[in-house]
Amino acid sequence: MTLRSKSGLLALALLLAMTTVEAKTFRMALGDAQGGTQWELGTKFAELFNAKTGGKHKIRLYANGQLGSEQDTVNDAAIGTLDFSVLAINNITPFSPSVGVLTLPYVIQSLDDAVKLTRGEVGKELVENTIRDAGVRIVGWAYSGFRVLTNSKRPVKTLDDLQGMVIRVPKNEIMIATYQAWGVNPTPMAWAETFAALQQGVVDGQDNPYITNHAMKFYEVQKYITNIRYIFSLEPLIISEAVFQDQKTEVQKAILEAGQEATLHSVAYINATEASIKQDLAAKGMEISDPANDENEWIEKATTAVWPKYYDSIGGKAKLDQVLKLLGR
Ligand code: MLT
Repeated sequence: MTLRSKSGLLALALLLAMTTVEAKTFRMALGDAQGGTQWELGTKFAELFNAKTGGKHKIRLYANGQLGSEQDTVNDAAIGTLDFSVLAINNITPFSPSVGVLTLPYVIQSLDDAVKLTRGEVGKELVENTIRDAGVRIVGWAYSGFRVLTNSKRPVKTLDDLQGMVIRVPKNEIMIATYQAWGVNPTPMAWAETFAALQQGVVDGQDNPYITNHAMKFYEVQKYITNIRYIFSLEPLIISEAVFQDQKTEVQKAILEAGQEATLHSVAYINATEASIKQDLAAKGMEISDPANDENEWIEKATTAVWPKYYDSIGGKAKLDQVLKLLGR
């Protein structure tokens, strides 16, 4: 073999070795079980990202809190030991309080509101804030629907009906304060522990969207649903900022583009599935009711007691006013 063909072979071997070494399987944590909005966003993102990197990079999903509670995954991503996570926005708020503007009760009143806020100026600012405060970058959003109250005890229509119940809430101050405004002291608990706590009767109820309640099979341990619709559940897809910065420009571009496209897919998914999932929960024996008197007492108590408490943490009252104005209110 000539020297030239030898060096040609060597160059080819080196190139192959580089290609092999560079191909990566990223890990993505999901708090929910397979089959809900988190799973839908995650699988769509993985498919798009794989295609955009020419099949080189893959993403492996770990559903059902296998990689830790949702709040733990923020810590792990911040230090770069986890690549991606899809989690409820309320589980990011403790790390980046300005995100709380999206969890204030009754601010978001429709899917359109949710899309407008996350995909517009407000969303862009929150992306910057979470990078700064929490070391994670939001690259996509799952739209999971309004959080509704479930419980195993009795139909709840009024605040009187709610009294005495033990309700699990995420470890999120705004949600805790909302239940306190409604006259009950809720039990803050990690998402990963919630099913067992409902099953064992440690807590009587919790709130999450129809799609999440369905994916988590809560109909096996809960009987009643009340459409309190106080928070629209937004579930961002985050990537560790350290991992993001480690990627080549074309991989970063693939991540951002796949995130945008998977977000649009999430809008289509909720529109196509939420109504039939609600029907299926009823078919599985859940009794669904609306709050009495157009929710007035629920809305009034929550907004007057909770909003002012959190003006400082969300960036001032002006921030909430800006959001409400954007939403035409
Ligand atoms: C929670 O209640 O902690 C979250 O909404 C769970 C989720 O991510 O679906």
